[in-house]
Amino acid sequence: MKSILKKLRRKQRRFVGSDLPRLLSKNVLLAKLYYLLFSRAFDRELRSVLAGRDAYITQLSSEAANATLLTRNIHRLEKGLLMRPRRDTFAAGFITETVTAFSKLVKRPQTCTPDQLRWFADVLREYFTATAQSQHPVIERQRQRFVTLVVEEELDEVRKVPYKRTQRVNISFEDFAKLSYQRRSVRWFLEQPVPRTLIDRAISVASQSPSACNRQPFRYVIIDDPAKIAKAVELPMGTRGYAHSIQSFIVCVGNLSAYFHERDRHLIYIDASLANMALMYSLEVLGLSSVPINWPDIEPRERMMQDFLGLKDYERPIMCMGVGYPDPEGMVAYSQKKDLDQLRVYA
Ligand SMILES: Cc1cc2nc3c(=O)[nH]c(=O)nc-3n(C[C@H](O)[C@H](O)[C@H](O)COP(=O)(O)O)c2cc1C
Repeated sequence: MKSILKKLRRKQRRFVGSDLPRLLSKNVLLAKLYYLLFSRAFDRELRSVLAGRDAYITQLSSEAANATLLTRNIHRLEKGLLMRPRRDTFAAGFITETVTAFSKLVKRPQTCTPDQLRWFADVLREYFTATAQSQHPVIERQRQRFVTLVVEEELDEVRKVPYKRTQRVNISFEDFAKLSYQRRSVRWFLEQPVPRTLIDRAISVASQSPSACNRQPFRYVIIDDPAKIAKAVELPMGTRGYAHSIQSFIVCVGNLSAYFHERDRHLIYIDASLANMALMYSLEVLGLSSVPINWPDIEPRERMMQDFLGLKDYERPIMCMGVGYPDPEGMVAYSQKKDLDQLRVYA
């Protein structure tokens, strides 16, 4: 009897695990049916994306300042300003929304940094100067509103508007290549605390990475208290065997409330990953080393991390990182990379 049950269970597992996906992946409706009836794998993502959309809409319709929306729109204005040739009239379709968002932010300047506020103000000022000839009624109306919002121009400061880059950095390709060959995932660290100043310096560099519409929809949570590290390193699955060696643990958390459209849901991963690479290189040149650690989308672990960090429903861990001073006695994997010919094709 037991062996018959075992056989049946194995058959059922095979059916749900491989035969069903083959059958139901033929079209979207069937695929949805599969994930409705047989798998919970996308539940967290669905809910987070929707929670993000809700938070975005709520912010938009409330008096709360939405620095993310403003960042995106200011970025769009900057693109209009640097367009060749520049048009006399542009951004008429979203300048009202932009000035509205700016006016909310001026009332609550604590929701952004002084540098951000200056950038918003400087670009808007530049925009209204550039479109002065347009006589467009919408732009004119917003110009009138903008001048009443008075954010004083710091005349002695560099204005935060599009500019021509005249300098090149003096880092040779060879030096940069050396850095990329030197960086390896390090899993053995000296028992030595990592100064917060170094982590901060590395993150400041990472913050210069590109992100879609400059929204930077992520943040870093750094755990460097030994008791907390001991708990945190157990949350992802990939730290077995070396978890105890990690001196500082970073969780990169994505923020889905930056988006109205579901189509943008992958940007948290793309933008954060671009920054994370810069972060790892920065750590390396500061004498530290790191190991990127996968964050598995598994509901019980998601819940544990959410509780541990107090994350909102629209926030999602992107990946973790172990950091420390590399133990010279510890080995790193050789990690042979793919050949150029395997990686690229000129189409
Ligand atoms: C997204 C991502 C997730 C990773 N997750 C883990 C992990 O959970 N545990 C681990 O030991 N290494 C992890 N790594 C490190 C990879 O194993 C490593 O980058 C790869 O083998 C190449 O080696 P290298 O980093 O030394 O070049 C991860 C790397 C990335 C980029």
